[in-house]
Amino acid sequence: MSSTSTSPPPKPSDRSSIGWQLLRQKPLADPTTPFTGKTILITGANSGLGLAAATKFAALSPARLILGLWHLDMASHASVAAFARRAADDLPRLDVAVLNAGVYEVARGVSAHGWERTLQVNTLSTALLAVLLLPKLRASSAGRRGEGGGGGGGGRPSVLEVVASRRVEAVQLAEEQREGGAGVLGSANSVQDGGYKPSEQYRMSKFLLMGVVKKLAALVDASEVTVTAVCPGGVATNLSRGALLNALIMRTPEYAARSVVSGALLEPQASGKLWYDDELHEVPNLAGEDGQKLAEKIWAEVTDALRRDVPAVGNVLKTLPGFKSVQP
Ligand SMILES: NC(=O)c1ccc[n+]([C@@H]2O[C@H](COP(=O)([O-])OP(=O)(O)OC[C@H]3O[C@@H](n4cnc5c(N)ncnc54)[C@H](OP(=O)(O)O)[C@@H]3O)[C@@H](O)[C@H]2O)c1
Repeated sequence: MSSTSTSPPPKPSDRSSIGWQLLRQKPLADPTTPFTGKTILITGANSGLGLAAATKFAALSPARLILGLWHLDMASHASVAAFARRAADDLPRLDVAVLNAGVYEVARGVSAHGWERTLQVNTLSTALLAVLLLPKLRASSAGRRGEGGGGGGGGRPSVLEVVASRRVEAVQLAEEQREGGAGVLGSANSVQDGGYKPSEQYRMSKFLLMGVVKKLAALVDASEVTVTAVCPGGVATNLSRGALLNALIMRTPEYAARSVVSGALLEPQASGKLWYDDELHEVPNLAGEDGQKLAEKIWAEVTDALRRDVPAVGNVLKTLPGFKSVQP
């Protein structure tokens, strides 16, 4: 199913144009591999891409599809933690978790935790849910292997998939953002009303999320849980309520949902990468030695912030296979 892009990366100036990215979108294959026996959880499934992906998953024979039954407020760490506890306690297994809920905030607002709302939902709460669901995903993978690969998941690793955006490729961090005392997350959070640009903040929130995905993927054994990200392309949904986007070159949610479903079928080599247009991509600014350092920095900032509020985060991280080898 997976292939790796061999085309040279576009110049940053090219990548920063949304219109250019939309026009270059390639056709998507329609995944038909069944999810027989699997339990799939998808957040943000009451509308747009999430609803279309849920419909598509449902047609591919999963054992259980969890969507919208339990309360989840991605603006609240307590709600995210309660949701993850419920998944751990109430589900016999969890084979695929798709973290799709996300926002595009047209005006700056601040969550109860003090974070700008786009960062709160798209970065911090998505990272929190990813970490807190890991034990269940890992246990389901171990259970499958104990069943000789014949259990509910069909012998494949569990999949943790976040819905990101290829617009992260255009992120260029200034020296001050990279090296300044506020940190990358802190400087994104400190953009004030006058300087707030919804599109840039959205892109930054997904870039920071990609830093988290990359580092989390390195901490987890990919043959146990594949930690990956997908971009559905430009999709005609309610996401950017009020913003002017060109509906003529957008994908329909039903078509774009192919990416979300094919993302859940990826092999372990997809770990830490971004899947779009049916190809795996490295995020340029998070690749190589400098990119790796940046991902580590983002990871440390995000997990430090989460740990302060939700001590369970530290407990989960300590159990990850790569934890000791990569901590200073
Ligand atoms: N549309 C695009 O062009 C595009 C491109 C790339 C990536 N994406 C990503 O795709 C994902 C789905 O977006 P969409 O385009 O389908 O937009 P959408 O129709 O607005 O869906 C967003 C979903 O997230 C949920 N959500 C938002 N805030 C939440 C919160 N605080 N707590 C719980 N759920 C919350 C929404 O639930 P409520 O309706 O109840 O708020 C909704 O179900 C997002 O992560 C988005 O960033 C979209």
